[in-house]
Amino acid sequence: MDNQVPLHIAFIMDGNGRWAKKRGLSRNIGHKKGGDTFREIAKYAKDCGVKYVTFFAFSTENWKRPKEEVDALMKLFSEYLDEAESYAKEKTRLIFLGDKSIFAREMAAKMTELEKKSKQFSDFTLSLAVNYGGKDDILQAARRAAKFCRDRDLTPSDIDEKFFSGLLYTSAVPDVDLLIRPGGERRLSNFLLWQSAYAELYFTDILWPDFTKKDLDTAIEYYKGRNRRFGNIEK
Ligand code: FPP
Repeated sequence: MDNQVPLHIAFIMDGNGRWAKKRGLSRNIGHKKGGDTFREIAKYAKDCGVKYVTFFAFSTENWKRPKEEVDALMKLFSEYLDEAESYAKEKTRLIFLGDKSIFAREMAAKMTELEKKSKQFSDFTLSLAVNYGGKDDILQAARRAAKFCRDRDLTPSDIDEKFFSGLLYTSAVPDVDLLIRPGGERRLSNFLLWQSAYAELYFTDILWPDFTKKDLDTAIEYYKGRNRRFGNIEK
């Protein structure tokens, strides 16, 4: 058994819409409540000794949603970016995973600025995946690898796993140890495909806005009981 707190936990924050519907509220209220859960769980994960957390906030596919919902989500991110300025006190490194160029210029610049300002912190790293897709991540890395081969006199065999990992949006974070998906679905939905190759998967029917610190404790306990072999045999 691994028996250790996972170094890196990734969360798929699913179920906001259903949480709201059950209460006769608009989906956007569900996202707002999901945002509150995100803040609480990120903070608690740090208290539990987890060093890296990654949250799936908006996928490359979520642009297909009604404009009103997309706008509401962008407003929530924007409010978070304003508030994140004060996170320097908490010594949290912030990273935004995904292609930022699609966002309003001011918003993209704010993300880059927060990343730069917090780069010095190494105790706790919070990554927020916005306009992120696992396939897109691998594809952009493959394009960059091809460019390296063309421009820097590298051959395709120079592109090994370590080098390629360094080209992904997650270059500054280790692979995922535990991936938590609330909301009842049992799939990865194009999240951290490369990085979750050996992640332990934890699914629960609880909807994300209802996910509590106790639920995180339960997921971590589940993880501690797993025997991780990484393709090797039992020792
Ligand atoms: C999936 O649930 C959730 C999203 C696509 C958005 C997640 C965003 C948040 C939790 C807000 C994040 C806020 C900040 C500040 C980072 P769903 O809407 O697909 O749920 P459903 O399956 O019940 O409809």
